[in-house]
Amino acid sequence: MIMDTHEITMEKIVSLCKRRGFVFQSSEIYGGQNGAWDYGPLGIELKNNISRAWWKEMTQLHDNIAGLDAAILMHPRVWEASGHVENFTDPLVDCKKCKARFRADQMDQEKLAKKICPECGGELTDTRKFNLMFKTHIGATDDNSSLIYLRPETAQGIYVNYKNVAQSNRLKIPFGIAQIGKAFRNEIVTKNFIFRTCEFEQMEMQFFVKPGTDDEWFEYWKKQRWAFYEKHGVRMHKLRWHQHGTDELAHYAKDAFDIEYEFPMGFKELEGVHNRTDFDLTRHTQYSGKDLQYIDQDNNNERYIPYIIETSAGLTRNLLMFICDAYEEEKVADKGNADDWRTVLRFHPLIAPITVAVLPLMKKDGLAELAEEIRNELRSEFKTDFDLSGAIGKRYRRQDEAGTPFCITVDYDSKKDGTVTLRFRDSMEQIRIPRSEIVNTIRQAIKNYKRK
Ligand code: GAP
Repeated sequence: MIMDTHEITMEKIVSLCKRRGFVFQSSEIYGGQNGAWDYGPLGIELKNNISRAWWKEMTQLHDNIAGLDAAILMHPRVWEASGHVENFTDPLVDCKKCKARFRADQMDQEKLAKKICPECGGELTDTRKFNLMFKTHIGATDDNSSLIYLRPETAQGIYVNYKNVAQSNRLKIPFGIAQIGKAFRNEIVTKNFIFRTCEFEQMEMQFFVKPGTDDEWFEYWKKQRWAFYEKHGVRMHKLRWHQHGTDELAHYAKDAFDIEYEFPMGFKELEGVHNRTDFDLTRHTQYSGKDLQYIDQDNNNERYIPYIIETSAGLTRNLLMFICDAYEEEKVADKGNADDWRTVLRFHPLIAPITVAVLPLMKKDGLAELAEEIRNELRSEFKTDFDLSGAIGKRYRRQDEAGTPFCITVDYDSKKDGTVTLRFRDSMEQIRIPRSEIVNTIRQAIKNYKRK
């Protein structure tokens, strides 16, 4: 029975992520690396499940969307054509005294006008444009001819390949190309854990449409992306739309809507849906000298540069959202202990890092062996865990904290009559079922899952 809940803070999320092996600070033993994080055993399972769900949604459940995995290193002209060399900048000011650096658009505008450092009161420099792309060198020399960038978005890899993909797969407009991969930005403000980092992953889909049909497809993709979160158990009252005003629009966009999620630090962007028009392909035509027009063979070989509707979600930011959304502290009047609190991650079973944990009540009397046998029956279909250390109540709590939706307990009756206890994470309800029905019962429970 639920009696109370605690406030959820980012500190609690960070602490759980470290304690349970979701996310670790990068290079922690050297004091950590700003803007970079490592994903531990539960974190990588969760991240894989989110990216798999997105990939399935895009490539399996939609007609006419093909996948791609383009290189992170691209020809430097790509970033001139895309506008990133010129426009992908943040306005920055530095303090001449304490050397602190600030985003001019995010600081107290009165202090900025007076050029006073908010940290030490020292004098600030003029505002200047700071490009967010990481630069490095390729090959043996390190002069300007070897300059190369780490991609700041995965989208450009799709644009420069759009003809290859369309021709090799005989795709006709409208069609999409989906890609998941790393992106890099030299972010100056990297607070809020993994929310904004210098190295992160994106899940992007670029949908190529006939000019004039773009508004319609834009609405279609807004609906699709909203429905994705609902399907994967996100509490929908925590999501909202934010339309970009003209001052917020990226240099390539005609219209842009963000799906925002209410994180512990407030509503923040989770994913963007953008109408990029023919901006990118027109620019790549100009810069590469290649004809990037689509030839519509069903329509008298009509030629045009397609418009692009983009859905762009952060994978690592989605992971943070799924953890924040799943996290609950709940007071449970469990087995007569009225002051017992549990931390539980209420992941949708399709997203949970572990689906089923098998727990032998005792190590001895053949229970551990029987439980291993049962686990082996389940492991080809579900991601499983096996835990035989400590009291059973403690083991349930550990699985609650990892977000495992189902536990199977093997006891002395299991030996006698072949039944086991199936425990549900959210309700803590326990039912007795024959061993032969475990797989079907769990399959059914996943299908019918509704967060309480
Ligand atoms: N291709 C379009 C594009 O990259 P964006 O709004 O700059 O658009 C899309 O980024 C998504 O990528 C964001 O909604 C966010 O989820 C994620 N993202 C962007 N910058 C990020 C960062 N520094 N750290 C983590 N995720 C980031």
